[in-house]
Amino acid sequence: MDNLKTTTREIEEKLHIELAAVTTVEMIEHIHTQFLGRKGLVGQLNEQLKNCTVEQKRVFGPLIQQLRLQAEMAINQKRELIQTAERQNAVEKNRYFDVTLERNEGRLAGSLHPITLAQQEIEDIFAQLGFLIERGPEVETDFYNFEALNIDKDHPARDAHDTFWLNLPNRLLRTHTSNAQIHTMTKQKPPLAIVSTGRVFRNEATDASHDFQFFQCEALLIDQQVSVANLLYIIRHMLRSFFQHDALEIRVRPGYFPFVEPGLEVDASCPFCKDGCSVCKKTGWIELGGAGLVHPNVLRACSIDPEAYSGCAFGFGLSRLVMLKYGINDVRYLHSPKIEILSQCNRLIL
Ligand code: FA5
Repeated sequence: MDNLKTTTREIEEKLHIELAAVTTVEMIEHIHTQFLGRKGLVGQLNEQLKNCTVEQKRVFGPLIQQLRLQAEMAINQKRELIQTAERQNAVEKNRYFDVTLERNEGRLAGSLHPITLAQQEIEDIFAQLGFLIERGPEVETDFYNFEALNIDKDHPARDAHDTFWLNLPNRLLRTHTSNAQIHTMTKQKPPLAIVSTGRVFRNEATDASHDFQFFQCEALLIDQQVSVANLLYIIRHMLRSFFQHDALEIRVRPGYFPFVEPGLEVDASCPFCKDGCSVCKKTGWIELGGAGLVHPNVLRACSIDPEAYSGCAFGFGLSRLVMLKYGINDVRYLHSPKIEILSQCNRLIL
Protein backbone atom coordinates (compact mmCIF):
# COMPACT_ATOMS: atom_id res chain seq x y z
CA MET A 1 0.00 0.00 0.00
CA ASP A 2 2.65 2.49 1.15
CA ASN A 3 4.81 1.30 -1.66
CA LEU A 4 2.19 2.35 -4.25
CA LYS A 5 1.71 5.71 -2.57
CA THR A 6 5.47 6.39 -2.66
CA THR A 7 5.72 5.35 -6.28
CA THR A 8 2.87 7.72 -7.22
CA ARG A 9 4.66 10.62 -5.56
CA GLU A 10 8.00 9.72 -7.14
CA ILE A 11 6.43 9.61 -10.60
CA GLU A 12 4.90 13.03 -10.03
CA GLU A 13 8.26 14.51 -8.97
CA LYS A 14 10.12 12.83 -11.82
CA LEU A 15 7.63 14.29 -14.33
CA HIS A 16 8.11 17.83 -13.04
CA ILE A 17 11.92 17.54 -13.10
CA GLU A 18 11.94 16.19 -16.64
CA LEU A 19 9.42 18.74 -17.92
CA ALA A 20 11.57 21.56 -16.57
CA ALA A 21 14.48 20.44 -18.77
CA VAL A 22 12.44 20.11 -21.98
CA THR A 23 13.28 22.48 -24.86
CA THR A 24 11.71 20.93 -27.98
CA VAL A 25 8.38 19.44 -29.05
CA GLU A 26 10.16 16.15 -29.84
CA MET A 27 11.32 15.92 -26.18
CA ILE A 28 7.75 16.56 -25.01
CA GLU A 29 6.43 13.71 -27.14
CA HIS A 30 9.10 11.43 -25.71
CA ILE A 31 8.02 12.32 -22.14
CA HIS A 32 4.37 11.79 -23.06
CA THR A 33 5.15 8.22 -24.18
CA GLN A 34 7.38 7.59 -21.17
CA PHE A 35 4.68 8.59 -18.67
CA LEU A 36 1.29 8.24 -20.30
CA GLY A 37 1.97 5.74 -23.09
CA ARG A 38 0.38 2.26 -23.02
CA LYS A 39 3.40 0.80 -21.22
CA GLY A 40 4.30 4.10 -19.50
CA LEU A 41 4.93 4.73 -15.79
CA VAL A 42 1.29 5.63 -14.99
CA GLY A 43 0.07 2.58 -16.92
CA GLN A 44 2.37 0.38 -14.81
CA LEU A 45 0.68 1.74 -11.63
CA ASN A 46 -2.67 0.58 -13.03
CA GLU A 47 -1.17 -2.89 -13.52
CA GLN A 48 -0.07 -2.93 -9.86
CA LEU A 49 -3.59 -1.87 -8.80
CA LYS A 50 -4.94 -5.13 -10.22
CA ASN A 51 -3.32 -7.05 -7.33
CA CYS A 52 -4.83 -4.73 -4.62
CA THR A 53 -7.85 -5.37 -2.47
CA VAL A 54 -11.18 -3.62 -3.12
CA GLU A 55 -10.50 -1.11 -0.31
CA GLN A 56 -7.06 -0.34 -1.63
CA LYS A 57 -8.51 0.13 -5.11
CA ARG A 58 -11.05 2.62 -3.70
CA VAL A 59 -8.18 4.72 -2.29
CA PHE A 60 -5.56 4.37 -5.03
CA GLY A 61 -7.80 4.22 -8.12
CA PRO A 62 -8.75 7.92 -7.86
CA LEU A 63 -5.14 8.80 -6.88
CA ILE A 64 -3.72 7.24 -10.05
CA GLN A 65 -6.51 8.81 -12.13
CA GLN A 66 -5.65 12.21 -10.64
CA LEU A 67 -1.96 11.66 -11.41
CA ARG A 68 -2.86 10.87 -15.04
CA LEU A 69 -4.98 14.04 -15.38
CA GLN A 70 -2.30 16.27 -13.80
CA ALA A 71 0.43 14.74 -15.98
CA GLU A 72 -1.65 15.30 -19.12
CA MET A 73 -2.28 18.91 -18.14
CA ALA A 74 1.37 19.62 -17.33
CA ILE A 75 2.57 18.03 -20.59
CA ASN A 76 -0.02 19.97 -22.66
CA GLN A 77 0.90 23.26 -21.03
CA LYS A 78 4.62 22.68 -21.68
CA ARG A 79 3.90 21.69 -25.29
CA GLU A 80 1.91 24.89 -25.81
CA LEU A 81 4.74 26.98 -24.32
CA ILE A 82 7.38 25.42 -26.55
CA GLN A 83 5.26 25.74 -29.70
CA THR A 84 4.61 29.41 -29.02
CA ALA A 85 8.33 30.00 -28.45
CA GLU A 86 9.20 28.18 -31.71
CA ARG A 87 6.70 30.29 -33.67
CA GLN A 88 8.16 33.48 -32.23
CA ASN A 89 11.69 32.34 -33.08
CA ALA A 90 10.67 31.72 -36.69
CA VAL A 91 9.14 35.18 -36.95
CA GLU A 92 12.29 36.74 -35.46
CA LYS A 93 14.50 34.80 -37.86
CA ASN A 94 12.50 36.01 -40.85
CA ARG A 95 12.59 39.55 -39.58
CA TYR A 96 16.39 39.58 -39.72
CA PHE A 97 16.71 37.45 -42.92
CA ASP A 98 19.02 39.42 -45.19
CA VAL A 99 18.17 38.75 -48.84
CA THR A 100 21.16 40.80 -49.97
CA LEU A 101 23.68 38.77 -48.01
CA GLU A 102 26.32 37.27 -50.33
CA ARG A 103 27.20 33.59 -50.29
CA ASN A 104 30.90 33.03 -49.80
CA GLU A 105 31.29 29.80 -51.71
CA GLY A 106 31.85 30.75 -55.42
CA ARG A 107 29.59 33.30 -57.08
CA LEU A 108 26.84 32.22 -59.44
CA ALA A 109 25.63 35.01 -61.66
CA GLY A 110 22.97 35.08 -64.33
CA SER A 111 23.74 35.89 -67.93
CA LEU A 112 21.98 36.11 -71.26
CA HIS A 113 21.87 33.00 -73.41
CA PRO A 114 24.61 32.93 -76.09
CA ILE A 115 21.94 32.95 -78.81
CA THR A 116 20.33 36.07 -77.32
CA LEU A 117 23.76 37.72 -77.06
CA ALA A 118 24.45 36.94 -80.73
CA GLN A 119 21.02 38.25 -81.78
CA GLN A 120 21.69 41.51 -79.95
CA GLU A 121 25.21 41.84 -81.37
CA ILE A 122 24.07 41.25 -84.96
CA GLU A 123 21.13 43.61 -84.60
CA ASP A 124 23.51 46.28 -83.23
CA ILE A 125 25.91 45.82 -86.14
CA PHE A 126 23.09 46.31 -88.66
CA ALA A 127 21.45 49.14 -86.74
CA GLN A 128 24.75 51.04 -87.09
CA LEU A 129 24.48 50.59 -90.88
CA GLY A 130 20.95 52.03 -90.79
CA PHE A 131 19.08 48.72 -91.13
CA LEU A 132 15.77 48.30 -89.29
CA ILE A 133 15.06 45.27 -87.11
CA GLU A 134 12.19 43.10 -88.33
CA ARG A 135 10.78 40.05 -86.51
CA GLY A 136 8.83 37.67 -88.75
CA PRO A 137 6.30 35.36 -87.07
CA GLU A 138 7.26 31.78 -86.20
CA VAL A 139 3.78 30.48 -87.10
CA GLU A 140 3.45 31.25 -90.77
CA THR A 141 1.29 30.75 -93.87
CA ASP A 142 2.34 29.04 -97.07
CA PHE A 143 2.37 32.40 -98.85
CA TYR A 144 5.07 34.05 -96.71
CA ASN A 145 7.22 30.97 -96.17
CA PHE A 146 7.10 29.56 -99.73
CA GLU A 147 4.83 30.98 -102.39
CA ALA A 148 5.90 34.64 -102.39
CA LEU A 149 9.50 33.40 -102.24
CA ASN A 150 9.04 31.86 -105.68
CA ILE A 151 8.54 28.35 -104.26
CA ASP A 152 5.32 27.02 -105.82
CA LYS A 153 3.26 24.18 -104.35
CA ASP A 154 5.06 21.50 -106.39
CA HIS A 155 8.51 23.12 -106.36
CA PRO A 156 11.21 20.54 -105.50
CA ALA A 157 12.88 23.09 -103.17
CA ARG A 158 10.06 22.37 -100.67
CA ASP A 159 11.59 18.93 -100.12
CA ALA A 160 14.75 20.56 -98.76
CA HIS A 161 12.62 22.33 -96.12
CA ASP A 162 11.10 19.47 -94.12
CA THR A 163 8.13 21.36 -92.82
CA PHE A 164 6.19 21.08 -89.56
CA TRP A 165 2.61 21.61 -90.72
CA LEU A 166 0.23 22.64 -87.95
CA ASN A 167 -3.17 21.22 -87.27
CA LEU A 168 -4.67 24.47 -88.51
CA PRO A 169 -5.65 25.40 -92.05
CA ASN A 170 -2.65 26.68 -94.04
CA ARG A 171 -0.41 27.16 -90.99
CA LEU A 172 3.17 25.93 -90.58
CA LEU A 173 6.22 26.62 -88.43
CA ARG A 174 8.49 28.77 -90.55
CA THR A 175 11.40 26.88 -92.05
CA HIS A 176 13.62 29.96 -92.49
CA THR A 177 13.78 33.66 -91.58
CA SER A 178 13.29 34.57 -95.26
CA ASN A 179 9.58 35.00 -94.45
CA ALA A 180 10.62 38.33 -92.86
CA GLN A 181 11.64 39.53 -96.36
CA ILE A 182 8.06 39.14 -97.59
CA HIS A 183 6.45 40.69 -94.50
CA THR A 184 8.72 43.73 -94.98
CA MET A 185 8.30 44.09 -98.74
CA THR A 186 4.51 43.72 -98.67
CA LYS A 187 4.20 46.31 -95.89
CA GLN A 188 6.72 48.98 -96.84
CA LYS A 189 7.88 50.80 -99.94
CA PRO A 190 11.55 50.72 -101.03
CA PRO A 191 14.24 51.70 -100.28
CA LEU A 192 14.32 49.06 -97.55
CA ALA A 193 17.03 47.68 -95.32
CA ILE A 194 16.17 45.16 -92.62
CA VAL A 195 17.80 42.54 -90.46
CA SER A 196 15.84 39.69 -88.90
CA THR A 197 17.02 37.09 -86.42
CA GLY A 198 14.94 34.31 -84.92
CA ARG A 199 13.99 30.70 -84.44
CA VAL A 200 13.14 28.42 -87.35
CA PHE A 201 11.98 24.80 -87.48
CA ARG A 202 12.69 21.82 -89.71
CA ASN A 203 11.23 18.37 -89.37
CA GLU A 204 14.53 16.54 -89.74
CA ALA A 205 16.70 14.09 -87.82
CA THR A 206 19.16 15.79 -85.50
CA ASP A 207 22.93 15.44 -85.31
CA ALA A 208 25.82 17.60 -84.09
CA SER A 209 25.21 20.22 -86.80
CA HIS A 210 21.45 19.80 -87.42
CA ASP A 211 18.63 20.46 -85.00
CA PHE A 212 14.87 20.46 -85.55
CA GLN A 213 14.80 24.01 -84.26
CA PHE A 214 17.63 26.45 -84.71
CA PHE A 215 18.25 30.17 -85.28
CA GLN A 216 18.94 32.08 -88.45
CA CYS A 217 19.80 35.68 -89.25
CA GLU A 218 18.61 37.31 -92.41
CA ALA A 219 19.34 40.65 -94.05
CA LEU A 220 17.56 42.31 -96.96
CA LEU A 221 18.43 45.48 -98.88
CA ILE A 222 16.13 46.85 -101.60
CA ASP A 223 17.08 49.99 -103.52
CA GLN A 224 18.02 51.16 -106.97
CA GLN A 225 20.98 49.31 -108.51
CA VAL A 226 21.79 47.02 -105.62
CA SER A 227 24.58 44.66 -106.66
CA VAL A 228 26.49 41.59 -105.52
CA ALA A 229 29.27 44.00 -104.45
CA ASN A 230 26.85 45.56 -101.91
CA LEU A 231 25.89 42.10 -100.70
CA LEU A 232 29.49 40.97 -100.23
CA TYR A 233 30.42 44.19 -98.41
CA ILE A 234 27.52 43.78 -95.97
CA ILE A 235 28.36 40.15 -95.26
CA ARG A 236 32.06 40.83 -94.76
CA HIS A 237 31.35 43.80 -92.49
CA MET A 238 28.92 41.77 -90.38
CA LEU A 239 31.28 38.83 -89.96
CA ARG A 240 34.32 40.99 -89.17
CA SER A 241 32.36 42.88 -86.54
CA PHE A 242 30.75 39.77 -85.05
CA PHE A 243 34.00 37.78 -84.79
CA GLN A 244 36.07 40.94 -84.08
CA HIS A 245 38.55 39.71 -86.67
CA ASP A 246 39.74 42.29 -89.25
CA ALA A 247 41.35 39.76 -91.54
CA LEU A 248 38.28 37.53 -91.85
CA GLU A 249 37.49 36.88 -95.54
CA ILE A 250 34.49 35.48 -97.36
CA ARG A 251 34.28 33.15 -100.31
CA VAL A 252 31.24 32.60 -102.52
CA ARG A 253 30.24 29.63 -104.63
CA PRO A 254 27.23 29.28 -106.94
CA GLY A 255 24.20 28.03 -105.00
CA TYR A 256 20.53 27.55 -105.77
CA PHE A 257 17.69 29.20 -103.84
CA PRO A 258 14.45 29.91 -105.80
CA PHE A 259 14.14 33.39 -104.29
CA VAL A 260 17.52 34.76 -105.45
CA GLU A 261 19.23 35.05 -108.82
CA PRO A 262 22.16 34.66 -108.89
CA GLY A 263 22.23 32.47 -105.78
CA LEU A 264 25.36 32.05 -103.70
CA GLU A 265 26.65 29.80 -100.96
CA VAL A 266 28.82 31.78 -98.56
CA ASP A 267 31.86 30.54 -96.69
CA ALA A 268 33.93 32.52 -94.20
CA SER A 269 37.66 32.07 -93.71
CA CYS A 270 38.18 30.12 -90.50
CA PRO A 271 38.48 32.58 -87.58
CA PHE A 272 40.46 30.00 -85.57
CA CYS A 273 43.40 29.09 -87.78
CA LYS A 274 45.56 29.99 -90.78
CA ASP A 275 46.39 26.57 -92.17
CA GLY A 276 43.39 24.41 -91.25
CA CYS A 277 42.04 23.03 -87.99
CA SER A 278 39.36 20.61 -86.80
CA VAL A 279 36.65 23.33 -86.86
CA CYS A 280 37.13 24.04 -90.58
CA LYS A 281 38.03 20.40 -91.26
CA LYS A 282 41.45 21.46 -92.53
CA THR A 283 39.92 23.47 -95.41
CA GLY A 284 40.43 26.95 -93.93
CA TRP A 285 36.78 27.76 -94.79
CA ILE A 286 33.46 27.45 -92.94
CA GLU A 287 30.04 27.29 -94.62
CA LEU A 288 27.59 29.86 -93.24
CA GLY A 289 24.48 29.97 -95.44
CA GLY A 290 22.90 31.28 -98.61
CA ALA A 291 22.72 34.67 -100.30
CA GLY A 292 22.01 36.34 -103.62
CA LEU A 293 20.17 39.06 -105.50
CA VAL A 294 16.43 39.06 -104.86
CA HIS A 295 14.61 37.25 -107.69
CA PRO A 296 12.35 39.52 -109.82
CA ASN A 297 9.40 37.15 -109.16
CA VAL A 298 9.76 37.84 -105.40
CA LEU A 299 9.74 41.59 -106.00
CA ARG A 300 6.64 41.22 -108.21
CA ALA A 301 4.84 39.09 -105.57
CA CYS A 302 5.34 42.03 -103.19
CA SER A 303 4.22 44.64 -105.74
CA ILE A 304 7.72 46.07 -106.20
CA ASP A 305 8.74 46.90 -109.78
CA PRO A 306 11.85 44.83 -110.66
CA GLU A 307 12.70 47.32 -113.43
CA ALA A 308 13.00 50.15 -110.88
CA TYR A 309 14.42 48.28 -107.89
CA SER A 310 16.78 45.46 -107.17
CA GLY A 311 17.80 43.86 -103.90
CA CYS A 312 20.17 41.53 -102.15
CA ALA A 313 19.64 39.17 -99.22
CA PHE A 314 21.42 36.58 -97.15
CA GLY A 315 20.34 34.03 -94.57
CA PHE A 316 22.91 32.41 -92.28
CA GLY A 317 22.65 29.86 -89.51
CA LEU A 318 22.86 32.04 -86.40
CA SER A 319 23.29 28.89 -84.32
CA ARG A 320 26.30 28.07 -86.52
CA LEU A 321 27.79 31.53 -85.90
CA VAL A 322 27.34 31.09 -82.14
CA MET A 323 28.96 27.64 -82.22
CA LEU A 324 31.96 29.08 -84.06
CA LYS A 325 32.27 32.09 -81.80
CA TYR A 326 32.21 30.12 -78.55
CA GLY A 327 33.71 26.83 -79.73
CA ILE A 328 30.56 24.75 -79.13
CA ASN A 329 30.74 21.53 -81.09
CA ASP A 330 27.12 20.34 -81.00
CA VAL A 331 24.17 22.53 -82.02
CA ARG A 332 21.89 20.63 -79.62
CA TYR A 333 23.81 21.99 -76.62
CA LEU A 334 22.27 25.37 -77.42
CA HIS A 335 18.93 24.01 -76.22
CA SER A 336 20.28 22.20 -73.20
CA PRO A 337 20.42 23.68 -69.72
CA LYS A 338 24.06 22.52 -69.29
CA ILE A 339 25.58 25.23 -67.13
CA GLU A 340 29.15 24.39 -68.31
CA ILE A 341 28.17 25.14 -71.91
CA LEU A 342 26.20 28.26 -71.13
CA SER A 343 28.67 29.72 -68.64
CA GLN A 344 31.57 29.57 -71.11
CA CYS A 345 29.76 32.30 -73.07
CA ASN A 346 29.05 34.19 -69.89
CA ARG A 347 28.66 37.93 -69.91
CA LEU A 348 27.30 39.44 -66.73
CA ILE A 349 24.17 41.54 -66.94
CA LEU A 350 24.47 43.02 -63.46
C1 FA5 B 1 17.96 29.02 -96.18
O1 FA5 B 1 17.31 28.77 -95.19
C2 FA5 B 1 17.71 30.27 -96.98
N1 FA5 B 1 16.54 30.91 -96.51
C3 FA5 B 1 18.95 31.19 -96.86
C4 FA5 B 1 18.92 32.35 -97.84
C5 FA5 B 1 18.39 33.57 -97.45
C6 FA5 B 1 19.43 32.18 -99.13
C7 FA5 B 1 18.39 34.63 -98.35
C8 FA5 B 1 19.39 33.22 -100.02
C9 FA5 B 1 18.91 34.46 -99.61
P1 FA5 B 1 19.51 26.93 -95.94
O2 FA5 B 1 18.43 25.92 -95.91
O3 FA5 B 1 20.76 26.52 -96.66
O4 FA5 B 1 18.98 28.28 -96.55
O5 FA5 B 1 19.87 27.31 -94.46
C10 FA5 B 1 20.79 28.36 -94.18
C11 FA5 B 1 21.73 27.97 -93.03
O6 FA5 B 1 20.98 27.58 -91.89
C12 FA5 B 1 22.60 26.75 -93.33
O7 FA5 B 1 23.75 27.09 -94.08
C13 FA5 B 1 22.99 26.29 -91.93
O8 FA5 B 1 24.03 27.10 -91.40
C14 FA5 B 1 21.71 26.58 -91.17
N2 FA5 B 1 20.91 25.35 -91.05
C15 FA5 B 1 20.15 24.74 -91.99
N3 FA5 B 1 19.55 23.65 -91.49
C16 FA5 B 1 19.94 23.55 -90.20
C17 FA5 B 1 19.65 22.63 -89.12
N4 FA5 B 1 18.79 21.62 -89.26
N5 FA5 B 1 20.21 22.83 -87.91
C18 FA5 B 1 21.07 23.90 -87.71
N6 FA5 B 1 21.38 24.81 -88.68
C19 FA5 B 1 20.82 24.62 -89.91
